[in-house]
Amino acid sequence: MGNGNDTLFLAELVGATGHVYGFDIQAQALKNTREKLGPAIDQTTLYLAGHETIEEKIPAEQPIKGAIFNLGYLPKGDKQIITLPETTKKAMDAILKRLVIGGRMIVVIYYGHAGGEAEKHEVLNYCQNLPQEKYSVLNYQFINQKNNPPILLCVEARA
Ligand SMILES: C[S@@+](CC[C@H](N)C(=O)[O-])C[C@H]1O[C@@H](n2cnc3c(N)ncnc32)[C@H](O)[C@@H]1O
Repeated sequence: MGNGNDTLFLAELVGATGHVYGFDIQAQALKNTREKLGPAIDQTTLYLAGHETIEEKIPAEQPIKGAIFNLGYLPKGDKQIITLPETTKKAMDAILKRLVIGGRMIVVIYYGHAGGEAEKHEVLNYCQNLPQEKYSVLNYQFINQKNNPPILLCVEARA
């Protein structure tokens, strides 16, 4: 969730019949997200829990059409509290198991902070090794920006 920008974007996209699940380990993130959502909160279930718990919190038969990971630390928050490679990979495993054909998992990698390079390496490695028969993986990068601009990966499940 972080500050809730992606959660709000998705909650407005899914409409009355859709649903968005949000995860964060910081109470501040949950609070910020609740405030940002306003009435769109009805479209959401927000967990004060790590994304590594997706497997236990979202039923295996629940199809997922889209997921956004926004890695790193909470903007304006504690830069020591960051997403970590092992738990992020576990969360991506759980999403891909539920992703419908044509569904997309977006992963935005921030890596300028301590620990960020290690996560970037592991997440890129994970996505590069997804079988091409099952997934198309695109890597969008800024090529004219300084200071470790974020990398955006898009994984689409193929027919
Ligand atoms: C870059 S921020 C997200 C920014 C957010 N997307 C926004 O729009 O503002 C990364 C968030 O990941 C959270 N986080 C750290 N470890 C986590 C975990 N295991 N599971 C879920 N969230 C985690 C942090 O608390 C932080 O709020």
